[in-house]
Amino acid sequence: MSDFETKVRETLANPENQGELPDADAVGTVGSPECGDMMRMWLKFTEKDGKKVIDRASFQAFGCQTAIAVASMATQLLKGKTAEEAQHLSAQDLTGELGPLPPMKIHCGQLVEGALKNALESTPSQPIEAPTESVNTLSSSLNRPAGGKLRIIPLD
Ligand code: FES
Repeated sequence: MSDFETKVRETLANPENQGELPDADAVGTVGSPECGDMMRMWLKFTEKDGKKVIDRASFQAFGCQTAIAVASMATQLLKGKTAEEAQHLSAQDLTGELGPLPPMKIHCGQLVEGALKNALESTPSQPIEAPTESVNTLSSSLNRPAGGKLRIIPLD
């Protein structure tokens, strides 16, 4: 087993920041046309030293183990970053202690990057509209009829 796979397994034993942030300022959802996996990320901002920075980030995934491990790492390292700093993070940047993504797993990291970028599009200065119905899980929201607040953005 590679070092990367070992670290993914260790992270999956106790993934951080899973589940919805009920008081989130931003949320992003993406799907990968490559594998059909999906990821949603929530961001909560706070003021620190006169700057608006990410206070908390969380995720929910219908994804592979790598995507979940990267999301766990990403949500930890996003803390304290401004929206602009977070916008410049690539999939490889978001892996944190997992190390570089193997070529076959790059799209898994891009799923996390895509969810982050999609969330950042709904900036804190533009408050998220409350959903018209209760959205408890990614699954339940994906089963909603088209035309709701959920936006699925396929990754390139
Ligand atoms: Fe789909 Fe990893 S195989 S995100």
